[in-house]
Amino acid sequence: MSHQKKLFGIWAVVAFTAFFLIQITTAAEPSKKEARPAIPLGLDEESFHVPSDNPMTPEKIALGRLLFFDKRLSGDNSIACATCHMPALAFTDGQPVSAGIRRQLGGRSAPTAINRAFSQIQFWDGRAATLEDQSIGPFTNPIEHGFADYDQMLAKMKKIEGYRKEFKKVFGTDITMDGVAKAIASFQRTLISGNSPADRYDIGGDENAISDSAKRGLVLFEIKRAAPNATPASTSPTRNSTISASAGTPGMSTSAGTW
Ligand code: HEC
Repeated sequence: MSHQKKLFGIWAVVAFTAFFLIQITTAAEPSKKEARPAIPLGLDEESFHVPSDNPMTPEKIALGRLLFFDKRLSGDNSIACATCHMPALAFTDGQPVSAGIRRQLGGRSAPTAINRAFSQIQFWDGRAATLEDQSIGPFTNPIEHGFADYDQMLAKMKKIEGYRKEFKKVFGTDITMDGVAKAIASFQRTLISGNSPADRYDIGGDENAISDSAKRGLVLFEIKRAAPNATPASTSPTRNSTISASAGTPGMSTSAGTW
């Protein structure tokens, strides 16, 4: 073997070892890369809330997505968050009231999981103060995911191949409910809808974005929202009134507490 070839061989071994060591150290360290999504037209960047103890990272978002769609995270492997918040139905289930584990009906309709990062309080009655709190509530609801308690859920998760490794990678810890909450909340913060035709007209000033009939509808919608009992005759319609939260999801108010 020539001197040069031998040298190359040594360097190859050194490079491989270095690469391998980097892999090991980065696998044990929780990820620090931040991944805040871009905020489209019509949504208020200032209201996009990410708690300082739960920065968004690509790995955490990916883990949250896995958890959101995993039916194994229910008492009988039949229910995932996505069962009631389906991407194809704007993250709702399109039903008057939702059906959970063993087809039990709840008392409320599933609202969309889109644009929740712009609201401080969650659920129809605002009972969850953060998206982290909200993100684990359904697991122990007897008519949703149906776990008796979080210990039962964690015990089941620890038997699912891969989750332990993923939590170690993202949080540097074993599986915890705190980690589940943070990952699902981070995934939910990526569900953003804005830049609707109504936003492009009302905020972007694009006169051709919606039809004349829709423009009249927008004025009526704004009057009704500002004063539910007002009639168009008693209030003068103006354009560019108060759509500030977003018309991103058509027909839906995105600020909690105003439903
Ligand atoms: C069985 C159906 C069902 C399942 C499963 C379910 N949800 Fe919901 N979700 C609902 C209903 C119904 C509500 C409204 C409840 C209320 O406000 O009291 C809701 C409310 C929410 C909200 C609040 C939206 C708002 O406007 O305040 C979010 C976010 C959400 N769910 C995310 C999730 C996540 C994350 C999971 C999985 C951990 C999940 N849901 C599992 C039916 C479901």
